[in-house]
Amino acid sequence: MPALRSNAKPRTYIILLCAIATFVSLVSAYFTYTNARSSAEDSLKLQALGIGVSIEAALKDGHDFALKKNIFSEVIADESRTGIAYIALYDNKGTTLAHSNERLAGRIVVDNTLAEAILSGKPFFRHSALATGEEVFIMDFPVHIKMDILTLRIALHTYPAEAAVRQANLQIVGIAGIIIALWIAGFLFIKAAERSERLEADLRQKERLAMLGEMASVLAHEIRNPLGSIKGFAQYLLEEAENPGNRENPEHYRGILKEQLGIVVDESGRLEKLTEDLLLYARPVEVRPEEFDLRSLVDEAVRAMGKTGNTDLSLSIPEGIRITTDRDKLRQIISNLIQNAADAASDNGVLNISAKLSGGKILVSVKDNGQGMDSETASKAFEPFFTTKTKGTGLGLTIVRKLTTALSGSITIESKADSGAVVTLELPEKL
Ligand SMILES: Nc1ncnc2c1ncn2[C@@H]1O[C@H](COP(=O)(O)OP(=O)(O)OP(=O)(O)O)[C@@H](O)[C@H]1O
Ligand SMILES: [Mg+2]
Repeated sequence: MPALRSNAKPRTYIILLCAIATFVSLVSAYFTYTNARSSAEDSLKLQALGIGVSIEAALKDGHDFALKKNIFSEVIADESRTGIAYIALYDNKGTTLAHSNERLAGRIVVDNTLAEAILSGKPFFRHSALATGEEVFIMDFPVHIKMDILTLRIALHTYPAEAAVRQANLQIVGIAGIIIALWIAGFLFIKAAERSERLEADLRQKERLAMLGEMASVLAHEIRNPLGSIKGFAQYLLEEAENPGNRENPEHYRGILKEQLGIVVDESGRLEKLTEDLLLYARPVEVRPEEFDLRSLVDEAVRAMGKTGNTDLSLSIPEGIRITTDRDKLRQIISNLIQNAADAASDNGVLNISAKLSGGKILVSVKDNGQGMDSETASKAFEPFFTTKTKGTGLGLTIVRKLTTALSGSITIESKADSGAVVTLELPEKL
């Protein structure tokens, strides 16, 4: 379907645009999320280390005293340190030496990660969950007190540090929403474009059919008339041939024969012209430029026209205007214009064909003093099959315009009802 084929390009662009927007948004959302995650992790580590170091110092200062007074509850109560879930101190067997929740002191904890911190001598970080299900960030921090290596465990609430992560999540949801909206909008746009393409194609098809219908009816009419005449006169001649009276009066018979056959020839000529005009109208124009003398071409066109009644035809074309264009096409154009001028002019009409060269352009004017055109005729003159003549096809000016355009020229008509017409052709000197 041509409608869909011509739509393929915008559709590809829209899909490509949506895909690029989706990719860029997803990549940027991914980086925002991972950055937020790692900075939340870093800030939890720093906070835990800060607390760990300061508690280690306090424990070293006065080990027993600190344990008795429960330094951990004091740290948690300190308003400058927020987000601490609990603090505990374990020996290497898992015994809770101290706990911010005093009730848990003395309990033995079975926990492999405690040994891990002691063995590595480095702080060990991980995420875990409280009994309430809340997520906490845990640091197991080896502390050296006198001869012992103990593990200080600091558990932090992750919620405050992960504000940036939550914001990144929110941003991802927002971006996902925008991407979905973008795809829906793209899809709707493509559908609308396809629909309007289809409607346009339907309209073009209807216009083509209407044009074809009009053409068919004009053609049927144009062909039927001369054919009717040809048939009528041929029948008449047949009857005359069989008429015994004609044998006695051959002179009279010859007269009839000449007159009737003349009409048959004329009508066949009309049919021939119609066929030629139709071909010119329908076929693409193939231009073959050559250099020639303008005046000799116009002379040729005038001679080919034969006698145009009592019309007085004059030429005002200077000798030696050379033009490079398609000679045959220009002759067809000028012949059509002269024919129209001769048709419009009355028996004693005056026709003038003039030409001049001006700034690389050649202007050819065909002027007549005929009946001219009213505004309706002037506006429709170039339409195919528009004619005001009983024996016209209405293709003359349509062909003239088509050929003129093919020769990169233009054509204008100046005319008023009852005051003749001037048709001016403007062509490039060299095509
Ligand atoms: N020089 C002119 N003066 C007045 N009217 C004109 C002139 N040239 C064209 N017209 C008007 O324009 C109409 C269309 O002209 P066009 O040459 O296309 O067709 P046509 O002459 O009627 O038929 P044909 O196809 O045989 O040329 C004419 O029927 C006529 O009414
Ligand atoms: Mg004509």
